[in-house]
Amino acid sequence: MRFDPWNPDFVASPYAVYDELRREAPVSFFEPTGQWLIARHADVNALLRDRRLGRSYLHLATHEEFGREPEPDFQEPFWRVIRAGMLDVEPPVHTRLRRLVSKAFTPRMVESMRPRVRAIVEGLVDDFVEKGGGDLIAEVAEPLPVTVIAEMLGVPDADRHLLRPWSADICGMYELNPSQEAQHTAVRAASEFSDYLKGLARARRAAPGEDLISALAQIEELTEDELVGTCVLLLNAGHEATVNVTGNGWWSLFRNPSELVRLREDLSLLPTAVEELMRYDTPLQMFERWVLEDIEVGGVSIPKGVEIALLFGSANRDPEVFDRPDTLDVGRADNPHISFGAGIHFCLGAPLARIELVESFGALLRRAPDIALVEEPEWNPGYIIRGLRSLDVSCG
Ligand code: HEM
Repeated sequence: MRFDPWNPDFVASPYAVYDELRREAPVSFFEPTGQWLIARHADVNALLRDRRLGRSYLHLATHEEFGREPEPDFQEPFWRVIRAGMLDVEPPVHTRLRRLVSKAFTPRMVESMRPRVRAIVEGLVDDFVEKGGGDLIAEVAEPLPVTVIAEMLGVPDADRHLLRPWSADICGMYELNPSQEAQHTAVRAASEFSDYLKGLARARRAAPGEDLISALAQIEELTEDELVGTCVLLLNAGHEATVNVTGNGWWSLFRNPSELVRLREDLSLLPTAVEELMRYDTPLQMFERWVLEDIEVGGVSIPKGVEIALLFGSANRDPEVFDRPDTLDVGRADNPHISFGAGIHFCLGAPLARIELVESFGALLRRAPDIALVEEPEWNPGYIIRGLRSLDVSCG
């Protein structure tokens, strides 16, 4: 098999192809997307921190000046929302936006949310175990982070069902060469989500609550687009990957039963286990960067104006960095995985994601000691955001 992000067999198991890329072609041109694929941990890690690359080039040049086609007009509502969030801007705008929200995500702030996260987990896991199991993704993995981030932002209970479909539709645009239909769906979702958040922010400006949207709505230097872009980013980033770490993680444990037993018998391993599950089957397989100045990677010259694709899933299995990289080791002590990124865009939500994951794996291991897989799961078609469609399990 070759690198083929549209092939379901590759998506189901990309790791043998990554091994070959790291060995034979660690920096290689991928014709179908016109990107350079970067497969080794050292290169991915260094490039994430390299300021000659950017998530965007629009702080330096127009599309035309950078030699790229502008996006079609119909996509404007999508990019308006996405490019107003910190993930798609570079300094100085990035620095300003990140500073405004980072206060809400410090390890101390987030630690104070642990009791609430635990209570949400326990409610979900109790219901799940009581009915003997079901789809772990739909019934536990999704509602947990969606509820946490929605509560944090202050999205009313009655509207929460809207968040997941909007987010999933928006994420359709992030896959490689999305279809026309996926593009239109993403644009529509971005417009609806944006209108919804504008309404909510106006209401909160008039009558503030204790939530993050109320706090952001009071900040005068934040434009309406930036406020909406920030909330969409937090709501999307705040749950998509966590869902997939939970699903992929349980699937990894079921395929490595001795590690599942080891973890169940020693729950003090939960923090290292969560890091290892994120490394072993990385939920976000690839992140892209624009080359803003000519660079050289592993002896290969890459010119300004092209895009590189950093293969996180490959970096996380690099034998140069990880001892026995293809072995799941829930006690792995030295684990510099790259699943939360690195450099200025390092995941703002990492401390929160870690709490959610430790609490949810812990609750299921305690409350469902005989949890077992009912049938082999299928993968969603997406490669960049890679996760299972469902995970049917029985508990008792
Ligand atoms: C296991 C779960 C998660 C994973 C694997 C993950 C992964 C990542 C990665 C790789 C990036 C950097 C992307 C890049 O450099 O191009 C990122 C950025 C970000 N993540 Fe997460 N994330 C997770 C959970 C969360 C949560 C729970 C939140 C918020 C509540 C969050 C909020 C963000 C934000 C705001 C950024 C942008 C930071 C910036 O541009 O400065 N993430 N995440």
